Amino acid sequence: MALLEELESMRMAAAAAIGQAGSADALESVRVAFLGRSGQLKELMGRIKEVPNAEKKDAGQRLNAVKNELEALFDERKAALGSAAPSGGPRPDPTLPGRTQPLGTTHPLTQAMERFAGIFEKLGFTIQQGPEIEDVFHNFDALNMPDDHPVRDQADTFVLEDNAILRSQTSTVQVRAMEEHVRKYGGGEGMPAIRIVSPGRTYRPDSVDATHHYGFSQIEGLAVERGVSMADLKGFLALFAREMFGEETTTRFRPSFFPFTEPSAELDISCIFCKGKGCRVCKQSGWVELGGCGMVHPNVFDAVGIDKELYTGFAFGFGIERTAMFMLGVDDIRRFSENDMRFLTQFP
Ligand code: DAH
Repeated sequence: MALLEELESMRMAAAAAIGQAGSADALESVRVAFLGRSGQLKELMGRIKEVPNAEKKDAGQRLNAVKNELEALFDERKAALGSAAPSGGPRPDPTLPGRTQPLGTTHPLTQAMERFAGIFEKLGFTIQQGPEIEDVFHNFDALNMPDDHPVRDQADTFVLEDNAILRSQTSTVQVRAMEEHVRKYGGGEGMPAIRIVSPGRTYRPDSVDATHHYGFSQIEGLAVERGVSMADLKGFLALFAREMFGEETTTRFRPSFFPFTEPSAELDISCIFCKGKGCRVCKQSGWVELGGCGMVHPNVFDAVGIDKELYTGFAFGFGIERTAMFMLGVDDIRRFSENDMRFLTQFP
């Protein structure tokens, strides 16, 4: 019978088209063509009236069966095509970039400390940490700053309680490193060399302004071994300065005083901005001060039990903020501790 034959060929064509539809849009066109309001199935259903009465019931059942079958195929295909998207939701755009978790970066001061320490590590120094809450012995006595030294005044140090202060310098770690070394090896014949650097926070009750802060950072260095001299100190620091600030950087020593070194010096480097010609950053001098250094004072060796007749040592202590400000062109030390993302994100 013509209607049922046509229905069968339409069923096969529709099933094939549904199976081949490669996208939701293509599938929708197939649906409209076969199952839509003026689609082929509707048209065939309209022709039921042509069927003789005796066969109407069978033909009607067959039409309905085909309709159900095609609708089920259609739903199945739709689910398969749309499985990447929640039904009804927007379809995902595969061309969009993926969602990433923003990664934090290290603080500019940490970056500077790591660069400082990394260069000395290459020169055979190891990194040593010390406590920020110190006792008076490690911060003052052992460093040849006796009781009556003006820097021990309460106005110059944060005093927590009698013998607990916030360290005012990382030189405390020199003392701790030497003590530890002497405990292990003794401070006499056969003591292996010491080479350490110690970056960390230090505290002084300074009034805060553009160049001062009560919390700041230093990096301390110490080398103790037989025959080490001021020439080694100069050589190491010149090498360091060239690595840190660029090949053309020159250094100079200015005579200075620190109780724990003798002789003592201040280390200056040629201004990296004007190459020593004089500019705003170096206040027209052509030089920028990095910090203090010198040969370990015999009294310091006495305090920790190292034989001052056998060993000599050099030490240095540089300000991290000052160096970072100089290198990064930051004009206010307070920027480092304000946690202002607009500032911090400039140093990825
Ligand atoms: N501790 C000194 C300060 O805070 C810096 C310093 C100078 C450290 C000379 C040293 C040194 O190790 O030898 O000003």
